[in-house]
Amino acid sequence: MSERTSAYADLRKTLKNTGKNRSVFEEEIRRLPLPVVATFLVNGKIAPAGFAAVREKLPKNEHSPAVAGAFPQLYPRTGDQILQATTAGRPRVKHKRVAVLFSGGPAAGGHNVLVGLKCALGPDNALFGVQNGPKGLLEGRLFEITNRALAEIINTGGFDFLGSDRAKIETGEQFAQVKLVCQQNRLDALIIVGGDDSNTNAAFLAEHLFSDVHSDGRGVQILGVPKTIDGDLQVDGLLPISFGFDTATKIYSELVGNILQDTRSSRKYWHFVRLMGRSASHVTLEVALQTKPTVTLISEEIAEREYSLSHIVDLIGRAIVGRAAQGVDHGVVLIPEGLIEFIPEMKRLIEELNEAMLAWDKEHAAKRNLAVPKRFLLGRISAKSAKLMASLPREFADMLLDRDEHGNLQVSKIPTEKLLVEMVTARLDKMARNPEQFFGQGRGRNRRSPEEMAHFVKREFATNTHFFGYEGRCGAPSCFDAAYTFNLGLAAGSLALAGKTGYMVAIRNLNAGGKALALPLTGLIGVERRDGRDKMVIKKALVETDSPAFRFFASCRDRWCREDCFASPGPRQLWGPTASQLPMSVALNQGYSDLTFNLGKNPKRDTDKA
Ligand code: FBP
Repeated sequence: MSERTSAYADLRKTLKNTGKNRSVFEEEIRRLPLPVVATFLVNGKIAPAGFAAVREKLPKNEHSPAVAGAFPQLYPRTGDQILQATTAGRPRVKHKRVAVLFSGGPAAGGHNVLVGLKCALGPDNALFGVQNGPKGLLEGRLFEITNRALAEIINTGGFDFLGSDRAKIETGEQFAQVKLVCQQNRLDALIIVGGDDSNTNAAFLAEHLFSDVHSDGRGVQILGVPKTIDGDLQVDGLLPISFGFDTATKIYSELVGNILQDTRSSRKYWHFVRLMGRSASHVTLEVALQTKPTVTLISEEIAEREYSLSHIVDLIGRAIVGRAAQGVDHGVVLIPEGLIEFIPEMKRLIEELNEAMLAWDKEHAAKRNLAVPKRFLLGRISAKSAKLMASLPREFADMLLDRDEHGNLQVSKIPTEKLLVEMVTARLDKMARNPEQFFGQGRGRNRRSPEEMAHFVKREFATNTHFFGYEGRCGAPSCFDAAYTFNLGLAAGSLALAGKTGYMVAIRNLNAGGKALALPLTGLIGVERRDGRDKMVIKKALVETDSPAFRFFASCRDRWCREDCFASPGPRQLWGPTASQLPMSVALNQGYSDLTFNLGKNPKRDTDKA
């Protein structure tokens, strides 16, 4: 064998024998050190913290009396009282059995929550994983988590170790089933890693399992960990962000940064990019701050200003025309996934269609059919909504009539980026038919004449569409998410050992060593109208247009539209200066003076000298 052939054979062998999750990158990230908030350290070694009430309380809301009524066991104990991790009163508990589950969409760092939990519980207590989320809990699918298994998944992305699910545990029957599973597995505590809905469910479960689960009258403690890439689980000054947001937005920012770089190189495309985040626009705002695109739509602002769909089309059209008049034929538009439902007239149309569908279901109970005749629906909606529907491109209007297996409209499946491309193109074509009227202003200052503008619109205007969602949810956690989730796990484990129930863990002061908190779920719950009825829920945190992050964005966007200020943040780094960066919107909203996070010190390893 020649030297070359033997080298080729060696390389083939090495590549073939690389096992599951064993890339050089994955091997390396397992070794990343994780800084620990000081309250979880004793002489440099990890130890569970105690939790004690602080002077601060959650602000009372107008629904507090109703919440108190719905949580007769929990509310008198937890109410709106915040707890903070302390070095005093560290729990010294043995033989506790704690289970953990993931609920909803994956988010980077979930595996490190498990690692943190296991570290806090130590060798004297047991940690069980629930397979496949809430559904798996109802089915009693539990297994014990070992240190060995955790050594494999530490710092890796995804939820694959446990799996997840979107089932909701909210009926009396389901609560009884969970009680049975807790009895069968002799569980003392259950940790639910999820978003606003999952933590709402956790509160009700905490109430139902408060006592009398076990034969000695004990209940099962229920604790929540805030997860969602959407960033819409935040609590003013107390929970700056949910985990997963940082990693997802860093990944999307890299992708958008690459597109911006391409577009200013090839100079011929307008890219319309939809970004995940089914309700709030935090993801889009963060990616805009990191990349400085040409146009960014923020759903919450659109709702507040009551923009119509036509006005949004106009807004984008004006940006395209303004730049084209200066000879700039490219740009990038960022669109939040949830946009459609925030445009007031679209929201009304969707609500009316929903009601019409309910009416159909009632009238045709016997043969409840997913395909409701269009004529029936159009006959039930207002004239304004019917006109709006008629103005939509046909395939999109039809999508508004599609229902999922629960009978709901599948709004999040609508490719808004494509809808906007079609509508903007149609608007520009219309303008090109009358160049003098639409492109005549600015004559002299413009580099293109009205005729040249019409030519550009008809012959040269070109678009591309993208949806970035799943690309960002399961990436290996950023340094921030890796450390944040590990500490959230330490906090949840400490609370479990301290015997607390009905709390969601949080960490604030992300720039100054971190402070672990326990927020009472009953204090986070309010009443909201959902699906035509009042429901007790943890409210989604939407982008506030008077927040520092939004105001900063608003002060920059006109310039970003006029000039190519594009920024390319590059891939998220595990080492070097950008590794320690927080999301910009979080740093701005928390009033930090720079972007660097600081979550304490690296603990001593057994191999370190004392
Ligand atoms: P969670 O709220 O469960 O964290 O999920 C958020 C999300 O990533 C949304 O941004 C997105 O709309 C949705 O999940 C998509 O979910 P699915 O996995 O059902 O397609």
